[in-house]
Amino acid sequence: MPIIVEKLTHTYQPNTPSARVAVDNVSLTINEGEFFGIIGHTGSGKSTFIQHLNGLIQPTSGRVLVDGFDMSDRKQRQKGRALVGMVFQYPDYQLFDSTVLDDVMFGPKNLGQSAEEAKANTEAAMRTVGLDPAFFSEKSPFELSGGEKRRAALAGIIAMKPKYLVLDEPMAGLDPSGRREVIATIANLRAELGCTVIMVSHSMEDVARSAERIAVFNEGKLFAVGTPDEIFSRTNELIEMGLDAPQTARLAKALRERGIPVPESIYTNEQFIDWLERTVKTGVNADV
Ligand SMILES: Nc1ncnc2c1ncn2[C@@H]1O[C@H](COP(=O)(O)OP(=O)(O)O)[C@@H](O)[C@H]1O
Ligand SMILES: [Mg+2]
Repeated sequence: MPIIVEKLTHTYQPNTPSARVAVDNVSLTINEGEFFGIIGHTGSGKSTFIQHLNGLIQPTSGRVLVDGFDMSDRKQRQKGRALVGMVFQYPDYQLFDSTVLDDVMFGPKNLGQSAEEAKANTEAAMRTVGLDPAFFSEKSPFELSGGEKRRAALAGIIAMKPKYLVLDEPMAGLDPSGRREVIATIANLRAELGCTVIMVSHSMEDVARSAERIAVFNEGKLFAVGTPDEIFSRTNELIEMGLDAPQTARLAKALRERGIPVPESIYTNEQFIDWLERTVKTGVNADV
């Protein structure tokens, strides 16, 4: 069963002079097992949107169904919420206990798992994200590096075994090695657990690598949803929207502006090399 979002609108401070439509009439479906990316510039409504997926905030209009559970209904929300694990943008907000083990174990314990069960799930989750329990369990969360903190927050959610894993900007603010750690962890997680991943990012590059389908938000509206090929074939529009486009897509755009007809469908190095090779060979043949 999927997550179905129907005509979702969210207005902050409605009926006041500072009312702000953060999500505007968005409809989309997230299928079981897929890697779904959400991109958009800062303030485009991504975080507001995903907070509806576990019923943390409520629609102003429209609705969200998680495996059929209507997240606007108090009773159904409890069931839907149990399926959705949410890792917030700033992991410091999620880490507050004195040791990493206690922190990661907080969620599973809260779900009513027994102490042994919670500890076993917690240690398994720590291993999944590459934090060796023997080394990290008794550390303070505040001794961790940025990438390690992000992975600890992720472990706390994984230990609850959600069906849908929602990650809000998991790479934001990390240095390149932290980003690599987190990207590798997410890939590993998909391979190991096979859960649905919904990943928010303002960077097309991060999403381009891993997502099977991508939604693009612009000023609260759903600009487009599709496969990476469908989305990145519109690179010019995405860049104009202020999105941080993949390096190769920017290079291709710069070349187009100089009159070199690089197709808009090219956004990875491999595609660019193939295209260049074909073009050069055809060019040489044409001259003969
Ligand atoms: N709690 C809030 N109260 C009022 N406005 C908010 C609140 N949270 C976000 N907004 C506004 O809603 C819009 C969308 O924000 P957000 O969903 O955080 O976007 P994103 O995650 O894409 O950066 C922005 O204009 C933001 O200022
Ligand atoms: Mg956000």
